[in-house]
Amino acid sequence: MTDNQPAPDGVLRLINGYWATGVLGAAATHSLFTHLENGAETADELATRADIAERGAQTLLDGLVSLGLVALHAGRYRNTPEASAYLVEGKPASLSSFAKLKLKHMGALVALPDVVRAGGPVTDPTTEVADNPHWEEVVPAIAAQSVPAATIAAEVLGLADAGEVSILDVGGGSGIYSAIWLEANPAARSTQLDWEPINAIARRLLAERGVADRFTCIDGDFHTTDFGTAKYDIALYSHIAHQEGPEGNVEVFTRLRNALKPGGAVVICDYVVDDDRSGPAFPLIFASEMLLKSKQGGTWRQSDYRDWLVKAGFEDVSFHSAPPATLVVAR
Ligand SMILES: C[S@@+](CC[C@H](N)C(=O)[O-])C[C@H]1O[C@@H](n2cnc3c(N)ncnc32)[C@H](O)[C@@H]1O
Repeated sequence: MTDNQPAPDGVLRLINGYWATGVLGAAATHSLFTHLENGAETADELATRADIAERGAQTLLDGLVSLGLVALHAGRYRNTPEASAYLVEGKPASLSSFAKLKLKHMGALVALPDVVRAGGPVTDPTTEVADNPHWEEVVPAIAAQSVPAATIAAEVLGLADAGEVSILDVGGGSGIYSAIWLEANPAARSTQLDWEPINAIARRLLAERGVADRFTCIDGDFHTTDFGTAKYDIALYSHIAHQEGPEGNVEVFTRLRNALKPGGAVVICDYVVDDDRSGPAFPLIFASEMLLKSKQGGTWRQSDYRDWLVKAGFEDVSFHSAPPATLVVAR
């Protein structure tokens, strides 16, 4: 190695990136972050509370220190602020279920070299198959990711003071947007279009939040279900555009434009990349997930969304940061 050659550590860490998914998924499976938050501070205490081997607890703690999710002070372990906010169970933005889910998905990546050669899925694409059990697992696990975005979107739209608005949430999943928006505005009503088993999950959430009386569901495929004409003030399309290709998105945006009342707004939430594809980091790498799982999906650029929305009849398009996602609002 010459003096000016970079050290191999970074590349080695990336080659072994699955260690991070594994350690994080195992720690979430055994509620380690929750036990740490509740006062367990040593491998011994964690092993007792989580009912795991002390050797296992110590190995996870070492891994979590390495990942920067747990801090060690004088022999005692504590969650970092990030772990405390996003990995403790029961907190609104907790990604703990998502960490468990991703551990199960890890094996699918062995197909990536073949997928890259083929330019798309080499087995049945999960995101495009109707009414797939995949969604029943994914939707509750990703709900927490939409909490910050839904809150930011409510502010951007001035929802709390908007009065009697009607909302259409296409592919609403867990119903988390409707829950947050109906709580923010007691005069608002929301309709979610999704597969029947997913709508059942959403109805349970809305009932738990005490807003089910203003929530309706339409069961079906959004590609073929009529959205209606001039019915809604707000239409939402969150984390769907990445599973569709350009033509599919223009087609849906056009039908959403028709479904909106004059002056109504469409809100798209997704992982949006810069026009020169130089960033941001999360949306750039998320494209590999869509190559693996969808026939035409990807992470689209701001300019793509602008072009498609203008084609669909929208005039005023703006972008709002909701990291790692972006909100696209058009009227
Ligand atoms: C990635 S999840 C997003 C959920 C929610 N919008 C959010 O942001 O939290 C995608 C959702 O779209 C739904 N979906 C996907 N394809 C669909 C289709 N063709 N028709 C109806 N719903 C669909 C799935 O069932 C799932 O609930």
